[in-house]
Amino acid sequence: MPGGAVVLGTTDTDRIEAPVTLKTYLMCVFAAFGGIFFGYDTGWMGGVLGMPYFIQMYTHKPYPPEPFDAAHLPADFALPAWEKSLMTSILSAGTFFGALVAGDIADVVGRRPTIIMGCVIFAVGCILEIAPKDALAAFVIGRLVAGGGVGFISAIIILYMSEIAPKKVRGALVSGYQFCITIGILLANCVVYATQDRLDTGSYRIPIGVQFLWSIILGFGLFFLPESPRFWARKGDIEKATVALATVRDQPRDSDYVQDELAEIIANLEFERAHIPSSGYVSSWLACFKGSLFDGSSNVRRTIVGTGLQCAQQFTGINFIFYFGTSFFQTLGTIDNPFLIALITTLVNVLSTPISFYIIEKYGRRRILLIGGTSMVICQFIVAIVGTAAPHAQVPGGNPPAVKAEIALICLNIASFATTWGPAAWVVVGELFPLPIRSRGVGMSTASNWFWNCIIGVITPYFVSADKLNLGPKVFFIWGSTAMLSTLFAYFFVSETKGLSLEQVDQMLAETTPRTSSGWKPHTTWASAEGKVHDKVEHEGSVEKVEA
Ligand code: BGC
Repeated sequence: MPGGAVVLGTTDTDRIEAPVTLKTYLMCVFAAFGGIFFGYDTGWMGGVLGMPYFIQMYTHKPYPPEPFDAAHLPADFALPAWEKSLMTSILSAGTFFGALVAGDIADVVGRRPTIIMGCVIFAVGCILEIAPKDALAAFVIGRLVAGGGVGFISAIIILYMSEIAPKKVRGALVSGYQFCITIGILLANCVVYATQDRLDTGSYRIPIGVQFLWSIILGFGLFFLPESPRFWARKGDIEKATVALATVRDQPRDSDYVQDELAEIIANLEFERAHIPSSGYVSSWLACFKGSLFDGSSNVRRTIVGTGLQCAQQFTGINFIFYFGTSFFQTLGTIDNPFLIALITTLVNVLSTPISFYIIEKYGRRRILLIGGTSMVICQFIVAIVGTAAPHAQVPGGNPPAVKAEIALICLNIASFATTWGPAAWVVVGELFPLPIRSRGVGMSTASNWFWNCIIGVITPYFVSADKLNLGPKVFFIWGSTAMLSTLFAYFFVSETKGLSLEQVDQMLAETTPRTSSGWKPHTTWASAEGKVHDKVEHEGSVEKVEA
């Protein structure tokens, strides 16, 4: 290890991490706050696009005759489709590139400063969005810049949390990030709901401006958290890695736990580096695509699994409800207040996510992906079948029982996602990659999430618009089928990573297939495989250390 002493580890696979303390929990819980950006920033745009003041400002059309409100605007009083599409999708472009470059930056300056930079970029984007009035270019550039900041934050928070969280509760803690995403979406919906009928700039400036609060809280708070010890190990600074690890594990620096975990991190890193050496910038990117497609532990396979899993998460169809829910509920014919139903769906999302904290550690990532995916397939197909067998809008007076059944199934579908695919896709991505390519792997996977998120946002209007395919509830045949593909992807490609250290995940991937991974138990440590161990002799409760 450049610049560092040899750190000796243990042969005992159970001793490579300290017991979890409250402080270690709290650090991750704070980092999870980054999810608020993700959720809030995706949550406000749809509502703002339908605000009378915002529409008037950009179209210069006269307001419709009184009384009018955001929920009941005439069809011709709206932003043109291209403008809506540009304002919405430019965010994903920013997040896509932000997530891709963030990995590189996180390897150079560290995980923590990269997230703080993300907060600053995001705040600059918000200023551009709200400072000028009626300036489309500034608004669009602002969305792009803010998106870049969200890309930084969404990729690197996952990386940072996965690297500092204790292995026993890593899944639950990273699920906390998903919980914050859902809270962000709900908050955005509430703020937009409250301001949508104002006929001044406050209508859109308030929902956008609220976001400064998130960047101040996260950016400022992160100054007090330690850097990831795995970042310092990667840099070869053992001294700083030890201090950071001791802080995140809440242990003294010379504790056996700290020394043994550090030895594991270093031994695994040395093995990975010897396996796929990468010298320059290009070769370090190429390293993400090295190895055989048929080897579950190769870098290329992990890159495919990470990016594929995020694509699969979007293919579950969840964002159809969150992006187009309001207009879909309007088409069902019998609903008085579609905004309220949309708000209820976001509430179901928030309230069911905490169940994942428990089941992700109890049943594991792979199993809940399979169960949640199957449940989503069933729910979405039934919605489509009910919608086809009992058409509502066409029937005079509507078909309230069928609509109620559909809404109940849509809520069940959201709960299935929120307890499984929502958190598990992020948890697996954080655990999947070996340290030399981890930041890039997580960055590419996050970029894949935003890419597919954008594609779905762009094509969905064609499925449901009255002047296009006008599928109505039949659109759920499409989402049911894509959710089935997602479930099959999880079955064939996702291995069980529950309860393993990030270094043990490496061993497991090398020794099992996804289908046999659940039964795998760690049997040796990296330090012993690399011959860098101290022996431990147990003497009635005390542990004596002998240099090998
Ligand atoms: C997904 C988002 C989705 C959100 C809903 C996230 O995990 O990546 O696309 O909107 O969950 O809660």
